[in-house]
Amino acid sequence: MKAVITGASSGIGRELAKILCGERNNTVLGVGRDKTRLSLLAEELRDCFIPVQADLSRVEGVYVVFKATREYLGEVDLLVNNAGFGVYKKIIEHSVEEVVSLVNVNFIAPLILTKELLNLMRHGSVVVFVVTAGVYVLLESLPLYGASKVALHYAVKALRREIRDRGVHVLAVYPGVVNTEFHIRAGYSLRGGLDPRRVAEEIIKAIEKKKSEVYIPRYLVTAKLLAPILPGYKVPVKTR
Ligand SMILES: NC(=O)c1ccc[n+]([C@@H]2O[C@H](COP(=O)([O-])OP(=O)(O)OC[C@H]3O[C@@H](n4cnc5c(N)ncnc54)[C@H](OP(=O)(O)O)[C@@H]3O)[C@@H](O)[C@H]2O)c1
Repeated sequence: MKAVITGASSGIGRELAKILCGERNNTVLGVGRDKTRLSLLAEELRDCFIPVQADLSRVEGVYVVFKATREYLGEVDLLVNNAGFGVYKKIIEHSVEEVVSLVNVNFIAPLILTKELLNLMRHGSVVVFVVTAGVYVLLESLPLYGASKVALHYAVKALRREIRDRGVHVLAVYPGVVNTEFHIRAGYSLRGGLDPRRVAEEIIKAIEKKKSEVYIPRYLVTAKLLAPILPGYKVPVKTR
């Protein structure tokens, strides 16, 4: 299988790359900005892993990934749109640059990358979008992040129908709190959360079963059912 994973330098994406490279005949093109981390992962995963340094907050970065995929993989069986970040701020506190960067990475890059890589996908390929179970509540501590993921959640529903005829399957992933660097990068410290390895394993299972959506852990599907009556959610942690 030939796979492209964004956000492969850390957290959930890194674990996905490790699992896929643990299986024979897979090749993973892993995307991130952090060259050192990508190189270390490439050393660990050897020939299976092709590191690609690209900044997805800029449209040019998306085309760096597209060109590298065309050159090194030629075709794609699996695209995992996983890169993303949040910032612990009110919407009106964000700088203009932060707004543009966050919306680009979390919403625009996954859509453009999917649109472009569709040209390299065969019948039976899968596109994964890592959203968040937070789309069903008002994320009061990370509202811009929440808004970008709600936009992604909406677009994914439309895309799923649009590309079905090409034989390309779409999986939306809705994790709860995961113990990754996401929280430190967002500006707060958090104890606990799901093991990113477990989240990656659940994503792989959902891909194999050709599911349309997966909630991790499973009980979070209740958030979807209860959304109209759920109160807002404030991250119960201290900011840095
Ligand atoms: N952790 C949670 O509680 C949680 C819950 C629900 C959903 N999610 C979602 O899960 C996904 C993965 O997050 P994670 O928890 O694994 O966090 P993470 O450990 O912080 O990983 C985020 C990844 O995104 C990449 N990234 C960030 N900005 C980028 C940019 N401008 N250009 C290219 N790559 C960029 C990072 O790579 P570089 O730093 O190398 O650029 C990193 O590999 C995200 O979409 C997040 O929204 C996380």
